[in-house]
Amino acid sequence: MQVLSVASECVPLVKTGGLADVVGALPGALKAEGVDMAVLLPGYPAVMAGLGAGAQEVLAEEDLFGGPGRVLRGTGGGLDLMVLDAPHLFDRPGSPYLGADGRDWPDNAERYAALGWIAARIAAQGAAGWQPDILHLHDWQAGLAPVYLRGMEGGGHARTILTIHNIAFQGLTPANRLDALRLPSAVFHPEGVEYYGQISALKAGLVFADRLSTVSPTYATELTTPAFGMGLDGLLSARAADLSGILNGIDDAVWDPAADADLATRYKTPRGKAANRAALRAEFGLADAPGPLCVIVSRLTEQKGIDLVLDTLPSLLERGGQLALLGSGDAQYEEALRRAADANPGVAVRIGYDEALSHRVIAGGDAILVPSRFEPCGLTQLYGLRYGTIPLVARTGGLADTVIDANPAALRAGVATGVQFAPVNDDALAHAMSRLCDLFAEPAVWTKLQRNAMKQPVGWATAAAEYAALYRGLEQAS
Ligand code: ADP
Ligand code: GLC
Repeated sequence: MQVLSVASECVPLVKTGGLADVVGALPGALKAEGVDMAVLLPGYPAVMAGLGAGAQEVLAEEDLFGGPGRVLRGTGGGLDLMVLDAPHLFDRPGSPYLGADGRDWPDNAERYAALGWIAARIAAQGAAGWQPDILHLHDWQAGLAPVYLRGMEGGGHARTILTIHNIAFQGLTPANRLDALRLPSAVFHPEGVEYYGQISALKAGLVFADRLSTVSPTYATELTTPAFGMGLDGLLSARAADLSGILNGIDDAVWDPAADADLATRYKTPRGKAANRAALRAEFGLADAPGPLCVIVSRLTEQKGIDLVLDTLPSLLERGGQLALLGSGDAQYEEALRRAADANPGVAVRIGYDEALSHRVIAGGDAILVPSRFEPCGLTQLYGLRYGTIPLVARTGGLADTVIDANPAALRAGVATGVQFAPVNDDALAHAMSRLCDLFAEPAVWTKLQRNAMKQPVGWATAAAEYAALYRGLEQAS
């Protein structure tokens, strides 16, 4: 079976968040399932540079939303790549989505419309003899492909599946861009691509893709509710039978405490933790402390509940706990975190994006905090599990599905792996921090939590089998 995965980011070439990890890991994981997956990416400078020599042009279009575009097929970063080389859209420095002023590129709608258009062309007509049976689309950036596919000759060849990684980003554009985006006016209505008077690329995908998925079972259910659906819950409820929740895995070769090149001490059991924690304290300028060293590695946005951590810091610090954070994002959170670090010797903050440091932070922490307001899956709590870094998480989305709360029943049964809290507010987080400190104060209990955590299967095998089954189901239905 041949699948073309279509996304705006992909590890190891370009990454702003977990989407890139997932897109980069799926092809390898699916190989074992007999799925041949290529990845279609925009030709940003980093992607063009990562494309190995010998890439071949397999498709070209003279006027692709304002300039010429062509698809290069080759390998890069260990992946079978199709790269959309369209300099007028993608040859820009910095973030894939933002200009130097920190704002979305004004032509983002056209940029990702082009990605969807080319995906549809490859699916409808093939490219140099390779034609996918399935288009696997990720987030709004690929959302228009199913609409384009419907209007193309050969469009019936491929089935489509759209995976929602984050419904907060919907790819909205004013309605007067319909023609410019090559969308037929017939689809501009509330049961089509219209979202409160605008065009929504995500909604287009949600309406017109054959199947939908998201990255955890709990989030799949949450998405059908007004509290989480961000205005698309009605549509998702109506399509609930077509919507699956498939939990992400992590790359367990990259996140392997027994082989991690970035660590002070590699470890197969919780024993290596002490050396890594000491190294992390030294690196972050933190003294020894009696309580747990809590860590965070995160984008700093409202989703991630960083404000809750700031509000409840005293309840951690009073118990002799500490916080070491690596993150970047909204200026207000960056500043507040810097202030908290200046004011408290038990708080240390690194603002920035640093892959190697993220390994040392997660390996050195006693606990990892993920107090997200919503979290489709979340990957850092999975890294935490693997490294015996106990996750303290909001009971939402994939966090709820991956961490077993250390309640009395789970402790007695010997299966707990972390701490959950709900609702997502200051009081509940403060209470959870206090529970975490209680658990940490009992070494036998804590070590058992760490052992349980490190034993959890967090790789891609299960998810790969579920995606492969989804693809096969779609193929059979066609
Ligand atoms: P999201 O995709 O919503 O940001 P995830 O938990 O799914 O959340 O994925 C985030 C990914 O980005 C993880 O791989 C995490 O380690 C990484 N990450 C986030 N912030 C940083 C940072 N400042 N430095 C290094 N890696 C980071
Ligand atoms: C999104 C979500 C995150 C998820 C990631 C990969 O960025 O915010 O929860 O883990 O996508 O699916």
